[in-house]
Amino acid sequence: MNLEKLFTPLTMGEIALENRVVMAPLTRSRAAQPGDIPHAINVEYYRQRASAGLIISEATQISPQGKGYAFTPGIHSAEQIAGWQQVTDAVHQEGGKIVLQLWHVGRVSHREVQADGGLPVAPSAIAPEGQAFTEKGLLDFEVPRALEGDELSGIVEQFRQAAINAKQAGFDGVEVHAANGYLLDQFLRDGSNKRDDNYGGSIANRARLTLETVAAVVEVWGKGRVGVRISPTGTFNSMSDSDPQALFNHLVEQLSPVGLSYLHVVERFAGADADGFDFAALRARFDGAYMANGAYGAASAEQSLQQSASDVVSFGMPFIANPDLPARFKHQYPLAEADQNTLYGGAEAGYTDYPSYESSAALNA
Ligand SMILES: Cc1cc2nc3c(=O)[nH]c(=O)nc-3n(C[C@H](O)[C@H](O)[C@H](O)COP(=O)(O)O)c2cc1C
Repeated sequence: MNLEKLFTPLTMGEIALENRVVMAPLTRSRAAQPGDIPHAINVEYYRQRASAGLIISEATQISPQGKGYAFTPGIHSAEQIAGWQQVTDAVHQEGGKIVLQLWHVGRVSHREVQADGGLPVAPSAIAPEGQAFTEKGLLDFEVPRALEGDELSGIVEQFRQAAINAKQAGFDGVEVHAANGYLLDQFLRDGSNKRDDNYGGSIANRARLTLETVAAVVEVWGKGRVGVRISPTGTFNSMSDSDPQALFNHLVEQLSPVGLSYLHVVERFAGADADGFDFAALRARFDGAYMANGAYGAASAEQSLQQSASDVVSFGMPFIANPDLPARFKHQYPLAEADQNTLYGGAEAGYTDYPSYESSAALNA
């Protein structure tokens, strides 16, 4: 198989990639406790995956309020910043690049996980279905508290401060997480946003918080080091919208002139039925690198690049058990399967103990 495009370097804004095999953000819930601090096993995990053209970090809490899941890392304390500095140093030593995914979960949280014991916040007081992953186990989601209009500038400031902290920690840039049913996505889509102020109702109003957040983060980083992730068809975390095409066409039209590093589009994930959604319409509206994600393999990614449906592709699950994914693609080595039981939480097992193909082949020789 010819994978010429996947291995053609690409400069996205200010970020130069050696190849187009990007590691998608993957929550693995293994931060040190107490304090949700990146530590030695996280350093080793990211170091092992530094041959990706770019690593996008696991979703990272921008503030205590932005936390939704036990054992996920943050970027709001000095200890967390120092922990991430170890990660970025290790990736850079290996010649890799890494950006931080900035995350506020909104309603996908629980009082148990909130540092102040308060209710999770959201655009509207509507609970998602399902359960929160807390230190005390799975607990039913609660009806969140609808944010007051005068609190929204504070949300933007949380993102801004986290972006400043990410810079201090030595990242190559940041990705604003506006996908998968978290706070910004909750504002975007009308299944979760029933507000009647400037941040609800019309598509332009629902896009406002994401656009204000992106503007604030760009002030910190410069436009060429900021990406945005969206999941227009995703239903994860009880998401729905009455007209996703119009909504995301508008959002991307507004994002394009900002001059971002990239637009990261989750095309398929967790029940998202992409049938009928026109992703090419988003690509056409975005004057920058379009990063496709969702169930891609080497051949389908190469085909997407060849057909100019995307500029770069990110891979999630394949990076879990294949730390050397670019080499496996390049040399057509077999892919290892990830153990589903060790995706979230725990320590080295199912995390840093997946070998590279060449080291396992050497051992078996
Ligand atoms: C274990 C796991 C953790 C994930 N964590 C995140 C995350 O932190 N942030 C995010 O935006 N997406 C997250 N995702 C979604 C992936 O980034 C990706 O969109 C999805 O797995 C589909 O891509 P793939 O088919 O290449 O795996 C996660 C997916 C999995 C399987």
